[in-house]
Amino acid sequence: METKFKNHNCGELNLENLDQEYTLAGWVSCVRDLGGIIFVELRDRSGYLQLVSDPQINPQVHATFEKLRNEFVVTVKGKITRRPEETYNEKYATGQVEMYPEYIEILSEAKVLPFALEDENVSEDVRLKYRYLDIRNQKMLHNLMTRHNIVAAARNYMNSQGFLEIETPILNKTTPEGARDYLVPSRVQEGKFFALPQSPQIFKQLLMVGGIEKYYQVARCFRDEDLRADRQPEFTQIDIEMSFVEQKDVISVVEGLIVDTFKAAGVEVKPPFIQMPWQEAMDRFGSDKPDTRFGLELFDVSDIMQASTFEAFKAVIADGGTVRAIRIPGIAGYSRKDMDDVRNLAISFGAKGLAWVTYMENGEVKSPVLKFLNEDQIKELQERSGAEKGDIVFFVADKPKVVYDVLGRFRLYFGKKLGLIDENKHNLLWVVDFPMFEWSDEEGRFLAMHHPFTSPKLEDLDKLDADDLGNVKSIAYDIVYNGTELGGGSVRIHSPEVQSKIFKALRITDEVAKEKFGFMVNALQYGTPPHAGLAIGLDRLVALLCRTDSIRDVIAFPKNSGAKCLMSDAPGEASPEQLRELHLKSTYVKH
Ligand code: AMO
Ligand code: AMP
Repeated sequence: METKFKNHNCGELNLENLDQEYTLAGWVSCVRDLGGIIFVELRDRSGYLQLVSDPQINPQVHATFEKLRNEFVVTVKGKITRRPEETYNEKYATGQVEMYPEYIEILSEAKVLPFALEDENVSEDVRLKYRYLDIRNQKMLHNLMTRHNIVAAARNYMNSQGFLEIETPILNKTTPEGARDYLVPSRVQEGKFFALPQSPQIFKQLLMVGGIEKYYQVARCFRDEDLRADRQPEFTQIDIEMSFVEQKDVISVVEGLIVDTFKAAGVEVKPPFIQMPWQEAMDRFGSDKPDTRFGLELFDVSDIMQASTFEAFKAVIADGGTVRAIRIPGIAGYSRKDMDDVRNLAISFGAKGLAWVTYMENGEVKSPVLKFLNEDQIKELQERSGAEKGDIVFFVADKPKVVYDVLGRFRLYFGKKLGLIDENKHNLLWVVDFPMFEWSDEEGRFLAMHHPFTSPKLEDLDKLDADDLGNVKSIAYDIVYNGTELGGGSVRIHSPEVQSKIFKALRITDEVAKEKFGFMVNALQYGTPPHAGLAIGLDRLVALLCRTDSIRDVIAFPKNSGAKCLMSDAPGEASPEQLRELHLKSTYVKH
């Protein structure tokens, strides 16, 4: 596009453009006055070009050059010339050319910026407060461009597979993902609230009832939960639902989507990806999103401990617990203080204690628990762990959930600390065969591990009737990339009878089900195709492909960890008039 201000991108000029005249526009990113001759780096989205002004050549242009400061916005016109060879700049694509403008106009002046754009030591708070300036830096620009390319590739792929992109409402009733809802009070319907969607889950299933067959949406979701580096209160999913399919069909479509979106970020991956049952993931990696780029796998020693004289561990096992272990190589030289730190780490992860066996370099085996084991048990332990001189084997005894969690986090901690993670690997895998339910001590009932519309495995239906809920598996699957859950989905229930059984198991009463999801349950009664789907967390996908730890780095205007926008100061207060109109009374007292 050519405009009055600009007819070419300044970062795309090179020796092929020599002697031709261009109009360029952008920001002054650096001004150097070398004894009369002034050099300026002009920057636009495409890159940089060197502008030069010599008072002998064009005094009028030079007078304007003398006024230039960093981040002024200018338009210039002139011919592209070759730089003297000894001044070629390899750093820029335009490093062999420059422009002596014949015309320059300052379009806008700039105050001194609160931070230097490319300074990597600026705190994130400052960057977020001035996000519009932060976006000028090359890293943010690159991340946003990568995000765009990934979304474009996703849309292309889904369109090519016959999917329709359909928007679903933002002002909603509550959705079933199980996080806290963001509520929006209704002015018109006194005392009522909309909930912002935690995902388009119900609507995409209703689109299947509506005969759409193949749906996708780049969908904004809202969840009021505790934030972490990979969680935002509003985030984006590539949301997918399909009719007349089984798990394997969804997996195959999503594998194609992964290939194309990864390719858009320059990464080549080859499906089919491994499918690992949930139980295996937990047993080997202590996690339902295993990072398989390195070993340090867990192993079960319950049987050895059961046969030992270690009463504390035996009591845990008798109480339905388990004792598992992990071997960490090469750390037998840890000092007493190091071991205290490791124990405290385990306790901070939720362990009640930590036991270990140290296989010293000199062949000695040391352990506070050795006295409880006989020779055969010690030998069996050494064989099972594969321990060699220099290693330490750690044990945790507790409820399986705690043991998996502590050792799984231990594994990641030592994997990182010992430099065992190969950052060049792209390990993708499916975790399948999830349990349908998860016991919540807090609520004293089973909760849906995925969501209540997920289909149980048909062969487990009788367990549902027998109230053996802990052993019901679901037809749910997660896609995991280098230890991060990228996306999750399931085959859905398409029978009203099974749906009401699941509500019953979750102790969701008929009234509550009717009130919350009544339209959904009704819809199932009017001819529902078997259907299934999945949602990919777009922000996580982009962050991983941009190799950044925080999804804030790939969102133009993110919230901070306090769910606040540091730039606009949102959320803000509402005026008394607004509250009155919304039929709300605030009990909040300012401190
Ligand atoms: P789920 O709740 O697993 O499934 O979400 C799907 C994916 O969305 C991403 N994600 C998030 N990303 C950033 N910030 C958050 N707060 C956040 N929460 C989730 C994750 C996750 O894997 N409706 C179902 C999908 C389905 O069954 O089809 C759902 O939303 O990458
Ligand atoms: P005790 O006999 O209670 O002193 O425990 C012996 C060792 O076992 C100590 O190193 C404890 O930290 C450890 N220990 C105790 N309870 C557990 C547990 N639940 N899991 C792992 N180690 C434990």
